[in-house]
Amino acid sequence: MKLIHAKDYRDMSRKAANVVSAQVILKESSVLGLATGSTPIGTYQQLIEWHKKGDVSFANAVTVNLDEYCALPASHEQSYLSFMNANFFDHIDLRRENAHLPNGMAKSYEAECEAYDALIAALGGIDLQLLGIGPNGHIGFNEPDEQFVMGTHRARLSDATRLANARFFGGSAENVPEFAITMGIRHIMQAKRILLIANGAQKLDVINRALNGPVTPRLPASILQLHPDLTVIVSA
Ligand code: GLP
Repeated sequence: MKLIHAKDYRDMSRKAANVVSAQVILKESSVLGLATGSTPIGTYQQLIEWHKKGDVSFANAVTVNLDEYCALPASHEQSYLSFMNANFFDHIDLRRENAHLPNGMAKSYEAECEAYDALIAALGGIDLQLLGIGPNGHIGFNEPDEQFVMGTHRARLSDATRLANARFFGGSAENVPEFAITMGIRHIMQAKRILLIANGAQKLDVINRALNGPVTPRLPASILQLHPDLTVIVSA
């Protein structure tokens, strides 16, 4: 594991964007696993800036996002598709047909989860997975549980997660969808490289427990300790 301490959010974002752009420059057809949340926004902004300068292109890349809320129309401004469009996809040359997110409006969640796992497998897996971390140690929406859930699945969001994400839904946890479809631990852990980013002093404790504590499904990010190519960038 490589642990990098960034000076501040901007520095963290720049360093993370460097890892992502190097990946795409070295392998144009990279499969990038992407994340939402407030943490990666600066990384996406930096990548957009470099793209506009002509330094990096996503024309041959493929992206697979970690997760999507259930029962929230894709057109809702807080859907993760809207988030990705507004914060990244609308500003780069990624081909839309190469940008994948789970469909949170699928009629059959089971079929959707199976199809998402099959898609990632058909793409040959993920070259670089970008991750944030929830205050309770979740990655994607893999919530604390009795066991790690390997495949893409529909997850019930914990009260803590709904509370943490209430700021995006008018401040009320009740407005945060109760379920989401999330990539499971298998495809995250099978990614060739993982880049975990965390911003702010409030994330230090959970990062410390995830990287130095026991590996346990009670703190899903702790499994990342077992990954052979993990880079963690923290700013606090
Ligand atoms: C959400 C996402 C996660 C993300 C987490 C942290 O719940 N599903 O992928 O890592 O929030 O968000 P933030 O970066 O806003 O702290």
